[in-house]
Amino acid sequence: MSEAKIYDVPREWAEEAYVDNARYQAMYEASISDPEAFWGEHGKRIGWFEPYTRVKNTRFEPDVSIRWYEDGTTNVAWNCVDRHVAEHGDRTAIIWEGDDPSESRHISYRELASEVQRFANVLKGEGVKKGDRVTIYLPMIPEAAFAMLACARIGAVHSIVFGGFSPDSLAGRITDCGSTVVITADEGLRGGKRVPLKANVDAALAKVGGVSSVVVVKRTGAPVAMATGRDHFYADLAANVSDECPCEEMAAEDPLFILYTSGSTGKPKGVLHTTAGYLVYAAMTHQYVFDYRAGDIYWCTADVGWVTGHSYIVYGPLCNGATTLMFEGVPNYPSVSRFWEVIDKHQVTIFYTAPTAIRALMGAGEEAVKKTSRASLRLLGSVGEPINPEAWEWYHRVVGDHRCPIVDTWWQTETGGILISPLPGATRLKPGSATRPFFGVRPEIVDAEGNVLEGACEGNLVIADSWPGQMRTVYGDHQRFFDTYFSAYKGKYFTGDGCRRDEDGYYWITGRVDDVINVSGHRMGTAEVESALVAHELVSEAAVVGYPHDLKGQGIYAYVTLMAGSSGDETLRKELVGWVRREIGPIASPDLIQFAPGLPKTRSGKIMRRILRKIAEDDFGSLGDISTLADPTVVEDLIANRQNKP
Ligand code: PRX
Repeated sequence: MSEAKIYDVPREWAEEAYVDNARYQAMYEASISDPEAFWGEHGKRIGWFEPYTRVKNTRFEPDVSIRWYEDGTTNVAWNCVDRHVAEHGDRTAIIWEGDDPSESRHISYRELASEVQRFANVLKGEGVKKGDRVTIYLPMIPEAAFAMLACARIGAVHSIVFGGFSPDSLAGRITDCGSTVVITADEGLRGGKRVPLKANVDAALAKVGGVSSVVVVKRTGAPVAMATGRDHFYADLAANVSDECPCEEMAAEDPLFILYTSGSTGKPKGVLHTTAGYLVYAAMTHQYVFDYRAGDIYWCTADVGWVTGHSYIVYGPLCNGATTLMFEGVPNYPSVSRFWEVIDKHQVTIFYTAPTAIRALMGAGEEAVKKTSRASLRLLGSVGEPINPEAWEWYHRVVGDHRCPIVDTWWQTETGGILISPLPGATRLKPGSATRPFFGVRPEIVDAEGNVLEGACEGNLVIADSWPGQMRTVYGDHQRFFDTYFSAYKGKYFTGDGCRRDEDGYYWITGRVDDVINVSGHRMGTAEVESALVAHELVSEAAVVGYPHDLKGQGIYAYVTLMAGSSGDETLRKELVGWVRREIGPIASPDLIQFAPGLPKTRSGKIMRRILRKIAEDDFGSLGDISTLADPTVVEDLIANRQNKP
């Protein structure tokens, strides 16, 4: 492997950042040698009603139980809102930038406090109590943050469903967690297009029961159907309640939120995060990884429907008293300069986005970037998928004018916060590497048998001990939590990612080693797409794999076997793509569909995905041994009919 290019830590960063390399080493060693003392100290960064006396009580075998700060009590909304009001109530908490560049809004911490309390009273009025689940299906408008914090304030557990998911996906998530209240908007607005959120909620609720109240925020003002007794406009409810609502005293391990994410098999899992450990970890990583300090204007371009939006738009930054920018739109509307124009407009200093956006904007050319100033920027971040070195270099040279370090942050919905990332004042950068573990994180690389590999090596990435932000369970299915993450390698958390470690101890994530694919930074289970396809009346069997895609990172490649007597043509291809969009959502649309008379199966009937992956990757030379297939001739047909163009 050729040695990667190295970028030294700029001198002023080493001098001025919270940690330089020596301090990183010292803090990291302290965090590993005595986690109790380390996290005992750093737990004090948040405010407590009752202080904790126990710090860490975790085990990964013979069963899994994860508890941090378990005898302390606190409230997340109090930490993210109230405690800042006294000190700097006039500081902007949220800058909201609308889809239309003429719309933006500054919300101070004082205003945030009043909005959150009012929203909390509205929820109480709808019967929401501590421990109840509330589904949030909102666009990127300030009310999304108000609703999250309102839930946290009264001890309700939010489950946010990304606005791009279909009514079916929404219905499944509402039922799984048993929500009684859904918060939505009339419509969403993205890239000038309207998204019929309320209509989607209606379609979802036609399938599932149990929801007694739908709270509708007006975004576009479009007329929407309102079911009498069930549906209410937020503004009408808010007009009748006060903006004072006390914080519920929450135990450290009380649930904060559920967020559904895709796995190798079955339905999406409800990842459960709890109160105190999550908040400590989100806030601490936000401070150190982004070297956040008062005065920064911080912008994470994610959607609150994903974990990045939870931890690094809302909870981490607000806990730190930061100014966080919330963007309703998309990178290429009204023009491909939008991101850079927003940076200039609001004088953004820290910018955090996904490689898929960087690659797309890179394709639009340098001029669209260079015509903006971006002089306010001091740090860039990347998240969600491996960043290819070409995109990294472009981000560094063109967007950051060679001036801004890039933090390539590796983490997952399950981890709650960033686990592997450079710290900008401490870590020399290698484009494409997430570099080194955060404090308290013990990555290991294991081979298929679970042997821990030493030195420079490649294998599967596991984490050997708990950290405060770790998920606590799969909602309603603790056994599945254990089976998914702790059964493959005894006593260790299995990430599902492959990883290489180089001679400097830097980690290079190589992508998923399970049947999860990463499409434009969105995580997708191949099994989910397959089950959507086979639900179509003409489909008898389907196998879905990822393949390298220039913009999306991975594209979705579907092999489809039709019912006897049916034949595949362009019209059916289009129909199947539309079908999957409707079943799951646009993010799951197959890029390529190949009609295959047969799939490669072992004699026991198991589909050999390895072969399908290789064919989708155009890598016919390394199909490996196909002699064990029940019918080796299917492979010739699959190769001959490989799809190249959508
Ligand atoms: O494969 C890794 C990839 O995204 C997966 C987690 O997806 P999700 O739970 O949706 O969370 C995304 C945002 C944290 C991981 O298992 N991934 C995430 N960040 C990186 C990454 N792969 C490489 N480099 C990253 N920086």
